[in-house]
Amino acid sequence: MGAADPEALRAEIYERWERAASGWGRRAERVREFGSPVSAWMLEHAQLEPGLRVLELAAGPGDTGFLAAERIRPEGTLISTDVAEPMLEIARARAAEMRLENVEFKRIELDWIDLETASVDRILCKWGLMFSVDPETSLREARRVLRPGGRIALAVWDEPPANPWATITTRALVELGHAEPLDRDAPGGMFSLSRPGRLQWLLEAAGFLDVHVETVQPARSWASVEDYVAETRDLSCAFGQTYATLSGEQREQVTGKIAELARAYTAPDGSLSMPARSLVAAADA
Ligand SMILES: C[S@@+](CC[C@H](N)C(=O)[O-])C[C@H]1O[C@@H](n2cnc3c(N)ncnc32)[C@H](O)[C@@H]1O
Repeated sequence: MGAADPEALRAEIYERWERAASGWGRRAERVREFGSPVSAWMLEHAQLEPGLRVLELAAGPGDTGFLAAERIRPEGTLISTDVAEPMLEIARARAAEMRLENVEFKRIELDWIDLETASVDRILCKWGLMFSVDPETSLREARRVLRPGGRIALAVWDEPPANPWATITTRALVELGHAEPLDRDAPGGMFSLSRPGRLQWLLEAAGFLDVHVETVQPARSWASVEDYVAETRDLSCAFGQTYATLSGEQREQVTGKIAELARAYTAPDGSLSMPARSLVAAADA
């Protein structure tokens, strides 16, 4: 992230996600699949029941919330939200395909949740909070809009060494001089909430009670290194943006470097299988 002041950083993050939305639309099924153990954990710990009003923050294609929408029928409503309008469009289309009728859509920024105080029963936020420029404020906002007795369930990525699937592609760009090394603590970055104890501390600082943090390890695999690179272009804002500026020859070098760095995870048939680890948390409002 190049921007220093929070407003400029926010604008940069919005722009990145608006640009990434088409790739996320193309890969929505894949994202749903590999995220499903994490979504399942969140739904179980959100303690859903029919009739509840559920808010999903940073919903992207919306699938975690859509699973919740099915569990809160007939009277319950899901508010599916994201800051990027093109992401909301993708979520709207997916909900229509699924014929979900108890879903509202709204553009909402994590740092100022534009809903009334004590107006929702549950909040879900999968792989979104770490993109907030100010996660402390986001969590205080989340607690404000939850009713007494409400619950939050969320997921953020765990430490970089536990997620080689997400670091190898960046490392290849860095080693070939196309990108700066990752600052894992930079606000708005994928690993910004991954330091041990940070998520727990943030939830408690925002006033949440009975905070429970665990890990879930979703499987990450690809048929070939080319598949891995193509998917990363679609889903990683930073990688996709840099890759787009490279020549054909440079792209080949990047793919070669990724193949080299991923060798330990590559099977004789060329398929790849890498570890991934997400932090998951649930708490009472
Ligand atoms: C990694 S995607 C996760 C999407 C979805 N929750 C999932 O698990 O598939 C992150 C999402 O956060 C959204 N986002 C990023 N910054 C945000 C912010 N400040 N407020 C609300 N949403 C934000 C992006 O537009 C994107 O849809």
